[in-house]
Amino acid sequence: KGNTNAKILFVGEAPGRNEDEQGLPFVGAAGKNLDKLLAQVGLTLDDIYITNILKCRPPENRDPAKEEIKAHTPWLKKQIREMKPEVVCSLGNYATKFFLAKGKINEMDEQPGITTLHGKPLQIEFDGLSIKLIPLFHPAAIIYNRSLISLWEQDMEVVKNEVGK
Ligand code: URA
Repeated sequence: KGNTNAKILFVGEAPGRNEDEQGLPFVGAAGKNLDKLLAQVGLTLDDIYITNILKCRPPENRDPAKEEIKAHTPWLKKQIREMKPEVVCSLGNYATKFFLAKGKINEMDEQPGITTLHGKPLQIEFDGLSIKLIPLFHPAAIIYNRSLISLWEQDMEVVKNEVGK
């Protein structure tokens, strides 16, 4: 959801039950938190586009399996090829590791995690595109750990600079 002409693409992990039912990313509890966190820093769905690594919900919300990531990411790559974002904000560990591993699923595990990488822009080559990757905490993690809010706000200053807001 959002603006396909935006410079910034947010990428989450996988739809939950509500997202699956509505066919839209981030509409459940994590999505409501994301809406609130974006509004607090003055960003709207006109400034960004939001999607997920997986395009449907893993049973019982379990972590996505490697084969599932492999099966679903051709759609993500197609979205990226069409949108050509300048900046990708990866939400949480899965998306961050996917982009750091340049989409090579077997290299995801060895990548550093979100706790060390959040808010630090990294220039990467992904599928022939030069992209600035800005890892961010997952909005669901912020629901459970409110102390992450101030770090999120600091990280969003980096994102806002990118959209000139
Ligand atoms: N969590 C995600 O990573 N994506 C969604 O769409 C919803 C929750």
